[in-house]
Amino acid sequence: MAVTTVGAELGFQDLDAELEPTELDVEGALPPWLGGSLLRTGPARWDLPAGSVRHWFDGLAMLHRFAFADGRVTYANRFLRSRAFEAAERDGRLAYREFATDPCRSAFKRISTLFDGGSQLTDNGAVNVTRLGDQYLALTETPLPVAFDPGTLRTLGVRGEPPADISTAHPHHDPARGELVGHGVRLGARSSYVLYAQRDVADRRVVGRIPVRRPAYQHSFGLAPRHAVIFEGPFVVNPLALALADRPFIESFRRRPEQGTRFWVVDRERGGTAGPWTSEPFFCFHTVNTYEDDGDLVVDLLAYEDASVVQSLGLGRLRAGEPVPAPELRRYRLPLGAPGPIRGETLSETRLELPRIDYRHRNGRPYRITYGIAVDDGPLFGGGIVKVDVETGQTERWREPVTYAGEPVFVPQPDADREDDGVLLSVVLEPERGTSSLLVLDAGDLSELARARVPHHVPFGFHGQHFGGA
Ligand SMILES: [Fe+2]
Repeated sequence: MAVTTVGAELGFQDLDAELEPTELDVEGALPPWLGGSLLRTGPARWDLPAGSVRHWFDGLAMLHRFAFADGRVTYANRFLRSRAFEAAERDGRLAYREFATDPCRSAFKRISTLFDGGSQLTDNGAVNVTRLGDQYLALTETPLPVAFDPGTLRTLGVRGEPPADISTAHPHHDPARGELVGHGVRLGARSSYVLYAQRDVADRRVVGRIPVRRPAYQHSFGLAPRHAVIFEGPFVVNPLALALADRPFIESFRRRPEQGTRFWVVDRERGGTAGPWTSEPFFCFHTVNTYEDDGDLVVDLLAYEDASVVQSLGLGRLRAGEPVPAPELRRYRLPLGAPGPIRGETLSETRLELPRIDYRHRNGRPYRITYGIAVDDGPLFGGGIVKVDVETGQTERWREPVTYAGEPVFVPQPDADREDDGVLLSVVLEPERGTSSLLVLDAGDLSELARARVPHHVPFGFHGQHFGGA
């Protein structure tokens, strides 16, 4: 099929409309067992009166909610009223340092930005959502989660004390311990990676700390029942330069391919750390899964050649439809107790991003299947949705011309006995209609079960989660 670029730019256009809960027209039939809500976040305003932000990641966060009941679906959306949003509304420009866009600030403010306990950090939770205790949180890559009401999408405010100076927006749930496990970087004269666990916003403990001189940019980590794995690609920063530099956050990072990519393991039961295992250099946003197998810790992830993907996700490039590098689905085996050199193994020729698994049943355990968006030569999101068997590399694909599909969130059927017995929920942009839809696929064969029409376009976002009780 020819690569299509028609209309993809609509996914990078601002959305101003906010809808109160609205029942959507549904084509096809939603599974009767599907309840709860899909809550998603993503940037929805990049163009401010003072100018546009520079990077896809830097748009102001909007929350989207698809609620399911009795075969019907209701949609609502609202901007996250973060302090970053309120300041941008008031001033027409960014007030906080975002990922790749920096407001003009005095030298004094620059110095105080990173080491002041978070008052200058952005709280623009455009990357992911999670639940911690009874709180629903919108996350970005600063340790300032913003709580919101999952029913009304109203913003409730920043929750908890920052556990680090930088954090990832991909915490893991550990249902056995009833904990949310997060990971971040503490910056200073002695920097360290920090793994922490929480039962609620007020109760946090440090599980492990790994000292590091030049911390790497990190986006996610792996969690298995006994171990966590933190990996650092050769895209690193001098903490002082990060604090003092008059440039956006990510532009202080430098490539150091000669140091390879390093893996560190935290023993969650005894609290010790081990490593490094060192591989060929690669850059990674997303792990797929991590589990123990025969004395090895298996780490499946999506590996890029290098960090150039970060620049390729600049807003101007994406709006122009320029292609982005495609990562490789790769497996690393870390022999526990024997740190040393390792090499990755390619699991499939299929290139994908925004990987999802049956998280509830398979995270931290052996698994066979991952889903994601296919990354081809064309514009981002134009490749459709893929399902990859990580044992055989075999791939199935759902694709439709001039339709741009986002992250496919897997929801298991309540009595599922097969790993792929459930549905995939993906927000798809249909530029020819000028709108988006919620697409519901049968995860077994990727056939379309239903499509619920949203009255406006949903800008391309990152991550969402399905919550049974929300
Ligand atoms: Fe992510």
